[in-house]
Amino acid sequence: MAKPAAARPVTARIDKLLSSMGYGSRKDIARMAGADRITLDGERLSDVTRRIPVLADLPARMAVDDRPLDPVAGMVILLNKPLGVTCSHSDAGPLVYELLPPRWRQREPAISTVGRLDKETSGLLLLTDDGDLLHRIISPRRMISKTYHATLARPLTGDEAALFASGSLLLNNETKPLEPATLEVLSPTEALLTITEGRYHQVRRMFAACGNHVLALHRLRLGGLHLPKDLQAGSWRLLDPTEQQQVFE
Ligand code: URA
Repeated sequence: MAKPAAARPVTARIDKLLSSMGYGSRKDIARMAGADRITLDGERLSDVTRRIPVLADLPARMAVDDRPLDPVAGMVILLNKPLGVTCSHSDAGPLVYELLPPRWRQREPAISTVGRLDKETSGLLLLTDDGDLLHRIISPRRMISKTYHATLARPLTGDEAALFASGSLLLNNETKPLEPATLEVLSPTEALLTITEGRYHQVRRMFAACGNHVLALHRLRLGGLHLPKDLQAGSWRLLDPTEQQQVFE
């Protein structure tokens, strides 16, 4: 039987590629090459109209100003979101995107947050330029679970776990009950809550439905991916494909 043909790598013109990665306009890229600022496989690159395969190893082969090229499209960023920053491209005030290298805000396709955390929620947040992956993660059909650590204003009554697990809790102004959620009580005013949906202010509204109030909220887990203990608030790192897959486990 004939072997299936190997998929050909996507190719791109170097000036277009670097421009889509936020390094400047195509004219800027030509100027940078003219000033010997771009290398490929250790050689000075002069013809920026050349097409090259866009493979994940490009950052190891290409350098701009002696620094490895940024990751090519298809990146997934794990951020420990600090308090006080907004998951938006356009709101006033500090934005999560300002925690990434400034050049990345010019990238095409754009980097977006995978779902949102409230301005006053901290913890595990993914960002990606891979639209398909983003939609697979936030798709309600997949019911990917998320665990939050909640600190509460008032002591838990003991009734919350059963109510959250019931699948019958109706939030204010909604007509569809919440899917069952799991509550693990850590102390009278602290709990881990695992939910499989992503409704607006969901965790805060769930505790509000029990007459309580969330003082602090921190996301610890998304699917099988945990927030690493050594990733400081405001810090981020890229996820490799194996780590990306953990979200679906
Ligand atoms: N639930 C909330 O209430 N806020 C968040 O940021 C995430 C889940």
